Amino acid sequence: MKTSDVRGILPRGGTILGTRRGSPFDTTDGVAKCKQTFNDLGLDALIVIGGNGSLTVASMLHKQHGLPIIGVPKTIDNDVVGTDSTFGFQTAVQIATDAIDRLHTTAESHDRVMVVEVMGRDAGWIALQAGIAGGATAIVVPEVPFDIDELSQIVRKRHDRGRYASVVVVAEGAKPKPKTLKIPERTLDAYGHEKLGDIAHAIAPEITARTGFETRVVQLGYIQRGGTPTSYDRVLSTRFGLAAVDVAHNKKFGQMVALKAGQIETVDMSVTANQTRTIDLKLFADVSATFFG
Ligand code: F6P
Repeated sequence: MKTSDVRGILPRGGTILGTRRGSPFDTTDGVAKCKQTFNDLGLDALIVIGGNGSLTVASMLHKQHGLPIIGVPKTIDNDVVGTDSTFGFQTAVQIATDAIDRLHTTAESHDRVMVVEVMGRDAGWIALQAGIAGGATAIVVPEVPFDIDELSQIVRKRHDRGRYASVVVVAEGAKPKPKTLKIPERTLDAYGHEKLGDIAHAIAPEITARTGFETRVVQLGYIQRGGTPTSYDRVLSTRFGLAAVDVAHNKKFGQMVALKAGQIETVDMSVTANQTRTIDLKLFADVSATFFG
């Protein structure tokens, strides 16, 4: 890619390269094709920009097949081990926070409980951050299985104190405690992942059944993954990009650029492979104890 190929992309979301999900390890000749393409294009290095899946594959291609690869952590999920943040996350949190702010209006004017579902399959980063920023009544994350009775009680207590509007923020990967709530059977997508997107619909009627309060579901879905990146994400991705190019010039392959205490560093890409960085459980517990209800 030349400067002319990337000029003007800073304020844009999405993948400019036109990449898609899929692993070369899924097919027998996938890795060989990768190597062939790498050689045909005469590449010196490959900078892989992605989340856990992409970085795991990148690490395997480097470790097992010797490809000169550098990782850059990018995902709205913020669940990459080895970095304090991924780019895309802050933008998703801002979108979810703006949405929650807007939902308070209808919650308050109609005395409703809004159950807002945000992304986060294995980690509840978006739910936690947007929930705190948006003043949620309760936040439900995949890391901490929820009890629908307790959740309903939190909403009831708040209404008992004269606040008739609530916003409950739920991560799509939230799980009920065993035998507390039946959720529909899930099918798998083409990559073997459970198809999510039903948890807010499972929770809302159960809150109504237990409290009598009117509930509504709002799923933010792909809105969280699109549009204009925040200035924070633009700066972070620029810093990551600069560092990745330095790593390439220094031939430190198998490294991922990372944010650590505000500084850009590099970490061995294998630390992130097949791992999920989950939320700060202490923060979640403190917020739950102090603000929920
Ligand atoms: O990994 C990013 C992510 O947005 C997850 O938060 C979400 O679970 C998933 O992608 C959605 O993927 P799909 O578009 O395949 O449903």
